[in-house]
Amino acid sequence: MRSFLYISANPKKEEASNSLRVGRALMEAVRKLNPQAQIAEIDVYREPIPLIDGHFLQARSRLAAGADVSELPAEEQEIVRNVFRFTDQFIAADTYVFAYPLWNFGIPPLLKAYVDTIKVARKTFRYTPEGPIPLLSGKKAVLIQSSGDVYSEGPLKEFEHGSRYLSAVLSFIGVDWIRTIRMEGMDQDKSRADARRNEALAEAERIAGLLVADGSPYEDSVAESRHFSELGH
Ligand SMILES: Cc1cc2nc3c(=O)[nH]c(=O)nc-3n(C[C@H](O)[C@H](O)[C@H](O)COP(=O)(O)O)c2cc1C
Repeated sequence: MRSFLYISANPKKEEASNSLRVGRALMEAVRKLNPQAQIAEIDVYREPIPLIDGHFLQARSRLAAGADVSELPAEEQEIVRNVFRFTDQFIAADTYVFAYPLWNFGIPPLLKAYVDTIKVARKTFRYTPEGPIPLLSGKKAVLIQSSGDVYSEGPLKEFEHGSRYLSAVLSFIGVDWIRTIRMEGMDQDKSRADARRNEALAEAERIAGLLVADGSPYEDSVAESRHFSELGH
């Protein structure tokens, strides 16, 4: 049975957020389809996500040189254990659902801090003489992203560093099944935004079915708006 980790990154109330509403709908659909599913949740705006600091960098060098965590000075052990708590929780799950808004062309900063806890050398990837290799396998991820403007086509296409960045990180560490539900142009026209959110909700239900069924073939599809951005027009 798959175990799920729902990672949400938005300080808004759930009912006021497109990404959180769709994220919650997906998790509820999973729960409904499989009441036994193991589901853990991290809200990066509520959980204290550790930031990489000087102690962590020192510890990182010592660990790379072969030290054990227990041999590190106390303050280094503390930050390493704080970071590894999230790394180990991530490794233990096998299906990840991320829900977040696009902020300034990227992911919210606390989600970036979380990414720093899961892209960790010798835990989720390894350096080799031939280059880095992933240490995870058999994992799946769904990215649920809401943005004010449109990036799938048009003048802003190259500016999207949210789902593109997260997909890059996840595939780098070995998550090779990644699906993206993008709600785009959400700040441009209320009725079109409602329609897009409904499409995304339907897509979330469909993906939940595939995740619970496990191993089903899945053709990539994106519940996103057609481009009607006023930008550049
Ligand atoms: C701080 C901040 C930065 C934002 N930056 C962008 C941006 O770079 N591009 C964009 O398309 N929308 C941007 N937006 C708009 C949000 O992405 C958009 O409103 C989205 O639908 C919010 O999702 P939510 O309802 O889940 O919070 C920004 C919003 C905020 C609050």
